[in-house]
Amino acid sequence: MNMVTPVGHPEPLLAALRDKLGAAAVLTGSEVPARNCNDWSASLPQTPLAVIRPLDAQGVADAIMTCRQARLPFVPQGGLTGLCRGAAPEAGWVAISLERMTGIEEIDRASMTMTVKSGTPLETIQKAADEAGFFFPLDLGSRGSCAIGGNLSTNAGGNRVIRYGMTRELVLGLEVVLPDGTIITSLNKLMKNNAGYDLKHLFIGSEGTLGIITRVVLRLFPKPRSTMAALCALKDYSAVIALLEAARSGLGPLLSAFEVMWPDYWDVITTRAGVKPPVAAGQGLYVLVEAQGTDESVDAPRFQAWLEELMERGLLADAAVAQSLAQTQAFWRVRDICAEFGQVLGPHISYDIGLAVARMDEFATRCKAALASGIKGCESVYYGHIGDGNLHLVSWVTGLPVAQQPKEEMDTIIYGLVRDMSGSVSAEHGIGTLKKKWLGHARSEPEIALMRTLKAALDPDHLLNPGKVI
Ligand code: FAD
Ligand code: LAC
Ligand code: ZN
Repeated sequence: MNMVTPVGHPEPLLAALRDKLGAAAVLTGSEVPARNCNDWSASLPQTPLAVIRPLDAQGVADAIMTCRQARLPFVPQGGLTGLCRGAAPEAGWVAISLERMTGIEEIDRASMTMTVKSGTPLETIQKAADEAGFFFPLDLGSRGSCAIGGNLSTNAGGNRVIRYGMTRELVLGLEVVLPDGTIITSLNKLMKNNAGYDLKHLFIGSEGTLGIITRVVLRLFPKPRSTMAALCALKDYSAVIALLEAARSGLGPLLSAFEVMWPDYWDVITTRAGVKPPVAAGQGLYVLVEAQGTDESVDAPRFQAWLEELMERGLLADAAVAQSLAQTQAFWRVRDICAEFGQVLGPHISYDIGLAVARMDEFATRCKAALASGIKGCESVYYGHIGDGNLHLVSWVTGLPVAQQPKEEMDTIIYGLVRDMSGSVSAEHGIGTLKKKWLGHARSEPEIALMRTLKAALDPDHLLNPGKVI
């Protein structure tokens, strides 16, 4: 990589930028907040030289031009909930944080689109869509803290991919500032627009290595008028696959989530995280099935009848159906509680595997055994968006601080198995730096070479988030 050397004294350049953008826009030295020193991953924080917090695309372009003049590497930051160190700075870098670029600019009812600034938290967007009588389906456990620009940059997945697709499917247009400071305003609202390359897809999922997204046009959807949820216990994984098939055919387009939790996950959340289980423990695997429709009076009895039939067929060992919104939320809490694994398990490493749906349980069984036999004291639990072919696992050795967790050994075992089973080292969280070494387990040499060609074309000086992803 062709890295540039920083100029000796960037302070006057940063001071000039502060004069231009305002005192609150440029924080240096002891003013740098701790939150801007790392993302959510289990890795050590690094204090950047400065945090720049512009208010609009021009401010981002000004920040970029200052970094270019000072020859300082810069990293875009959204809500800092990423799990791969994608938004983490290195010492001596500048963080360009989108945290002050928040707000909804427009809801276009006829186009069913919402135009937002890229630092807007996902939950604010969900609420604004709801208040306007629409639905924005992207949903992740980090919804209160992550920002839409970060969601685009990671092509986030989450809980409703099975019905609505990943973030990429929910975006019509965007505005982005290139590494040379050029502002590309491409706030397309058209569903159909085949006029040349669809450039937005270059930036979606590129983890802040090709440009800084400043505004976004999102697709809105009709607001569901009914939500049905069931927590099911099943004796083995073949029953889980049968339930998934039954959900796809029996619930059709209403199926909105299919989340699976292995017995070890259930054990941790009920015995160590204080969750009151809606169905009894010790019955095998657990599945949260959600369906959303348009008419409560029709959809709820249909959902109930569908489940009863499965019960009669002997597919389910046990099942609880939510009778109220509060119960639906309690069911989701069972799944979202993994956000608190830091407190519950102590230091641990999270993984985000893409795999054929049919082979998830084989992977979980082989992986758990390989970790336990290969690394002294290594425990692991398994869960995920199984309807989308996305398994999560967390692994840890009790009592070790994060820096001493045997991550390299865990990675070697887990990603080796992923490669053997033709999976992906990241289904939804991205690569950042933490999985960079393993990119070749999931992408071919020519694919990685083309990624490098694109990076070099847009950022020949390697100043934008250098060393991330590739
Ligand atoms: P950040 O962490 O700030 O940044 C992520 C990456 O995007 C970095 O590479 C950064 O440089 C880049 N970036 C940020 N903003 C911009 C911008 N405006 N322009 C260009 N680049 C930018 N992820 C899922 O996919 N599915 C889940 O179900 C899920 N659940 C989670 C649950 C919890 C409890 C937590 C902590 C995380 C979860 N995540 C999940 C991971 C994370 O929330 C997502 O990756 C999210 O999309 C990151 O958004 P962010 O704003 O926090 O991005
Ligand atoms: C989840 C995060 C870890 O699905 O992606 O809970
Ligand atoms: Zn996830």
